[in-house]
Amino acid sequence: MADPKKLFIKTYGCQMNVYDSERMAEAMGADGYVLTEAAEDADMVLINTCHIREKASEKLFSDLGRLKPLKQAKPGLKIGVAGCVAQAEGDEILRRMPLVDLVVGPQAYHRLPEMARSTGQQVDTDFPVEMKFDRLPERKTHRGPTAFLTVQEGCDKFCAFCVVPYTRGAEVSRPVDRILTEARGLVERGVRDITLLGQNVNAYHGAGQNGDYGLARLLREMAGIDGLERLRYTTSHPNDMDDDLIAAHGDLPQLMPYLHLPVQSGSDRILKAMNRKHSAADYLHLVERIRAARPDILLSSDFIVGFPGETDEDHAATLDLIRAVGFGAAFSFKYSARPGTPAAEKPELPEDITNARLYELQALVTSQQRAAQEAMVGREVGVLYEKPGRTAGQMVGKSDHLHAVHVDDPTGKVGELVRVRISAAVTNSLAGERLN
Ligand code: SAH
Ligand code: SF4
Ligand code: F3S
Repeated sequence: MADPKKLFIKTYGCQMNVYDSERMAEAMGADGYVLTEAAEDADMVLINTCHIREKASEKLFSDLGRLKPLKQAKPGLKIGVAGCVAQAEGDEILRRMPLVDLVVGPQAYHRLPEMARSTGQQVDTDFPVEMKFDRLPERKTHRGPTAFLTVQEGCDKFCAFCVVPYTRGAEVSRPVDRILTEARGLVERGVRDITLLGQNVNAYHGAGQNGDYGLARLLREMAGIDGLERLRYTTSHPNDMDDDLIAAHGDLPQLMPYLHLPVQSGSDRILKAMNRKHSAADYLHLVERIRAARPDILLSSDFIVGFPGETDEDHAATLDLIRAVGFGAAFSFKYSARPGTPAAEKPELPEDITNARLYELQALVTSQQRAAQEAMVGREVGVLYEKPGRTAGQMVGKSDHLHAVHVDDPTGKVGELVRVRISAAVTNSLAGERLN
């Protein structure tokens, strides 16, 4: 038998790209490819790209530059570009970078094996009627106790700064039975913790046997899967946190006490200019209701600093909101003008102002993150072991609240869900002792 062909995949961007890369690897696996960790050994290199900020999309072109000598040494090497830059730039990529053989948009991944078999340059950035997931081969290869599962794709929100509605297209939800089948298959292969994914996951509305399901109803079905101990979902929009979903945080023990709920800004003026369609007070009220349902929930968020027109007062309002909520984690980004979005037409702020605001905001969220970690000391939490730690006899896993936890446990095994008493908070992680 001939040696299998080798595929190297580099993934940028959000968790949905991580999930897509797994599915593409499986689709190519059905066509005889195995994954390799080294681009130098590969017969095909696939770059799964992100277009969200300028810096993210520039990575594609620096990666392609580095691949030039490889392609010269091995002319048969196939180079593919997938993801949101592929969608946004399409055949422009082939013009700028003739070494690329194929460009495949996020909704066309089921066509990847066929494109890789063809000769000549290939582009597919269609948004087909049928969802790619219905045409990709079934999942077979998942390893490890945690998994992502995409249930919804695309976005209809059109925030003024964001490329996602253009690169991923309109909102589509996968049918309930497909999701449950995939989840059961993952659990059979040892998965105990599933994160449901969608660009707007809480806008999920999939067809089920008994009508239309929202995300809460889907989570309730998933909680019935034997052996599936933990559920999470990301990313949510504040306006789609309905009563049923909030209630699920109170009554579903499998639903973990961590919620990523991006707010972007604490200024009503900026929220309006961003087209977020809610006020800072709406967000604070929502947080109150979520905490009433699940008092120990840890909240995280995304912030954009330096949106066009942002004043010192607007920035101060964002800091006020952060102080009022107390986040357990937060991601903050300098505004990046993206081609084709409405905000890109507005004048940008001077960079030194944006840098100073980002610095101030990050200092505040870092102090909140530390406080949240320190508040865990002495508490008992669940930890799902994901891998051995760096020191011998140590295991590392995630707590219910998604903190990384190191545990001295020489007999511990990957995939075990154990009770741990947190003993110390160290930079970016916790340490604890196993109780059972
Ligand atoms: N669907 C999610 C997030 C998608 S993108 C939501 O609605 O919040 C992830 C994060 O990237 C966003 O929350 C936002 O904070 C950031 N982001 C998106 N576009 C950006 C831009 N043009 N400049 C800087 N940050 C951006
Ligand atoms: Fe982008 Fe999220 Fe807004 Fe959709 S809801 S446009 S994905 S930031
Ligand atoms: Fe990036 Fe596309 Fe995800 S732009 S953040 S890879 S949806």
